[in-house]
Amino acid sequence: MEDMERTRRRHRDANCLTANRGHRRAAVLKRGLFLCVDGVDGAGKSAALDAVADELGRGGRQIVMTREPGGTDLGVQVRNMILHGQHLGSHTEALLFAADRAHHVETVVRPALDAGINVVTSRYADASAVYQSASGELDEAEVWDLSMWATGGLVPDLTVLLDLDPQIGIERARQRGELDRIESKDLEFHRKVRDGFLRRARAEPQRFIVVDADQDPETVARIVHVALSQRLPERLADG
Ligand code: TYD
Repeated sequence: MEDMERTRRRHRDANCLTANRGHRRAAVLKRGLFLCVDGVDGAGKSAALDAVADELGRGGRQIVMTREPGGTDLGVQVRNMILHGQHLGSHTEALLFAADRAHHVETVVRPALDAGINVVTSRYADASAVYQSASGELDEAEVWDLSMWATGGLVPDLTVLLDLDPQIGIERARQRGELDRIESKDLEFHRKVRDGFLRRARAEPQRFIVVDADQDPETVARIVHVALSQRLPERLADG
């Protein structure tokens, strides 16, 4: 636990990188912001992701848009194994998502953040905490801790949570095509996922923006724009 605390502190201290030129501090580079869009299956993440990207990319600022699972070449293989492969036990599934995340953070997310570039990811560790515990076999806090171990404690600055009745979400997903291994789980599972996300958002209101996703994508995008334009200036100032 102490190690984890030390790792967290190190990463927090690294949020502000100081470039030394000779013996003089020449420039202070602000760490990029790390934003996430998450929610039940079929919630319509693309429109929200575009809205987040617009806000973060204002003024021509560079951003990295990425996803989990599958934000790296290795991750694409892991994604296929998880979503389209053979049946996996709960521990195996949780470890594969964590492995995807560890590699994603190490090779894509953290290098961008450290270079001062804002990063937007489709899904992150809250998804693991709620999805991998929803069958009742794994403990939500333990799954979260696994992600924190895998990523050196990297938590998004803000997460846009798209909230939707999973019955509507799964129907939307079905209309898009054949359901994958996780989408195919029963409604009870997806209800637990939704409840889990909402519980997490209530526990950390400063880290979440909850948006009703039972609306057309343009409306969802507009709400995300407004919410971010209110919340991001504080975050940028915190930086
Ligand atoms: P998703 O990106 O939502 O797929 P799509 O391309 O359909 O938008 O993610 C695929 C599935 O993986 C989704 O059902 C949620 C699940 N998932 C987990 O169970 N745990 C995780 O840690 C992550 C990131 C996703």
